[in-house]
This record gives sequence, C-alpha cells and structure tokens, in this order.
Amino acid sequence: NTERSLVLIKPDAVRRGLLGEVLSRFERKGLVVEALELRTMDAALADQHYADHVDKPFYPPLKEFMTSGPLAALILSGDEVIEVVRAMIGSTDGRKAAAGTIRGDFSLSNRENLVHASDSPESAKREIDLWFPNR
Ligand code: CMP
Repeated sequence: NTERSLVLIKPDAVRRGLLGEVLSRFERKGLVVEALELRTMDAALADQHYADHVDKPFYPPLKEFMTSGPLAALILSGDEVIEVVRAMIGSTDGRKAAAGTIRGDFSLSNRENLVHASDSPESAKREIDLWFPNR
C-alpha cells in the first residue's frame, strides 16, 4: 500500500550538520524522495502545521525552535511509509527513543528531536497540502 508522508528535518539537524545523515537513512531504507525543499518556517506556517498543539504549554518554545532557521521539508513515498518513517525516527523524547532510531542515536531532547513525520494518512494529506500545495 504505497503512501506519502510529510517529513521535516528540523533546524537542529540542519545546524548540527545531520541533514545528510538523516536523508541518507531514508534513502537507504528504499523510500522515494518526491519533493525536497530547504525552507524556513514562519510563525503563520508553524501555527498551521502544529494546529493541534498551539494551546499546549510546550508550544511557544517549540514555535521559537521550529522558526529558528532553515529546515528541510520532504515528501517521502513508499509502502506503508507513514508507519515505516515513524519507526525509523523513534519516540518523541530523544532521551527515551530506542538506540538505532534517528532520535535515539542523535537527540537528547524532547523538543529538539531532529525530525517530524506525519502520524496518520489524514495528517499526511493535511501537511502535504500545507507545505507543497501543488503536489
Ligand atoms: P513533532 O513530531 O514535530 O510534533 C510535535 C513536536 O512538539 C514534537 O515533535 C516535539 O518537537 C515537540 N514536543 C512534543 N512534546 C513535547 C514536550 N512535552 N515538551 C517539549 N516539546 C515537545
């Protein structure tokens, strides 16, 4: 069942020089990069992208972080890609994410956790429409 997922390689990954490492893991897995753009999130896009989180206490520092510099926005496609990518990135908190996952190997933070990926087919559609309206 081929699907698409919206993936963000976050500003911490770009700053730390981990863009290639993260992208390479997705490529080696066999996922297809359908779109790839270096972008800087502005406040309006952050509020839309994180619509489910805007009222949460962790949102203001999350927004500050996500708008702090360039990130890579990707559309990845492949068989069961939504679940596959979420398994590859690991749980939200880098301190708890399993070794071998991207967050488990490279993040010690609950916020600066290197990657975002759509969590369901509905959010993938919503997020792809938001970041890549022509795709
Ligand atoms: P992401 O997959 O982009 O979705 C929401 C983001 O909010 C999450 O990754 C983290 O960057 C951040 N986040 C989630 N929970 C917390 C938390 N408890 N404290 C700080 N940041 C969080």
